[in-house]
Amino acid sequence: MHVARPHVDESPTDPDIAAVLFDRDTIAARVKSLAQRIADDWRAYTEAEHHAADLTLVPILTGSFIFVADLIRCLPMRLQIRLLSISSYPGPATTSRGPQVQAGLGNLPASLEGAHLLLVDDILDSGRTLAMAVDLLRQRRPASLRTAVLLRKDRPEARAFPVDYVCFDIPDVFVAGYGLDYNDYYRNLPDIVTLRPEVFSPSAPHENAPC
Ligand code: IMP
Ligand code: MG
Repeated sequence: MHVARPHVDESPTDPDIAAVLFDRDTIAARVKSLAQRIADDWRAYTEAEHHAADLTLVPILTGSFIFVADLIRCLPMRLQIRLLSISSYPGPATTSRGPQVQAGLGNLPASLEGAHLLLVDDILDSGRTLAMAVDLLRQRRPASLRTAVLLRKDRPEARAFPVDYVCFDIPDVFVAGYGLDYNDYYRNLPDIVTLRPEVFSPSAPHENAPC
C-alpha cells in the first residue's frame, strides 16, 4: 500500500547551494498565475480575431524544459509543442558565449505560416538568445508571436528587451535549478538557487567541479 509521507525539503542541506531565491511552492504558484494570464489573453485574442486558432509553444531547450512542462499543464487550450535547441553557455561558462542553434535538435518545420506562437525560455539575460529565436521564428512567417520567460535578470539589456510574459524578475546573479544549469548540472534542483562560489572555482575538490 502506498503511504503518503510528509514533504521533506532537502535543498537547504545541499552543500553547493548558497541561497534559495524561489522555493518550489512559490514557483508553482507563479507559474499557475502566469498560465492564467496567458490563457485569459489567448481567450480574448481568439474571440476577437482568430476563432479556430491553436496555440503552438516553442520552448528553447535545454533550460526551459521544466518550466514549460509545468506551464502547459496549467494551460487549458488546444496547443502543440515545437522544440528549439539553442546553447550559449558551453560547459562551465557563466557568461554567454553567444547563442548557437544546435543543429539537428528541435523539430521546427520550415514554415510556420499562420501559426500562433508562444516562444518560451528559461531566463532573459543579455537577450541574445531570445533575439535569435525571434528572428528564426519570424522567418517562418507565423500569424502571431509572443514571448514568455521564467526569469528576467536586472540588467539594462534584459529590461530593454520586449517580452510579453515574465514569471520572476531577479537580481543580476547566476542562478541554477528548476531546469537552469551550471555546467549542465543542477537542473534537477526543485528550487531556483544561487550557488556557492567554490562551485565555480576550477580548483575546487568537488564532484561537480567544472572540467
Ligand atoms: P542570453 O542570451 O544572454 O539572454 O542568455 C540566455 C540563456 O543563457 C538562457 O537560455 C540560459 O540558458 C543561459 N543563462 C543565462 N543566465 C543564466 C543563469 O543565471 N543561469 C543559468 N543559465 C543562464
Ligand atoms: Mg537556455
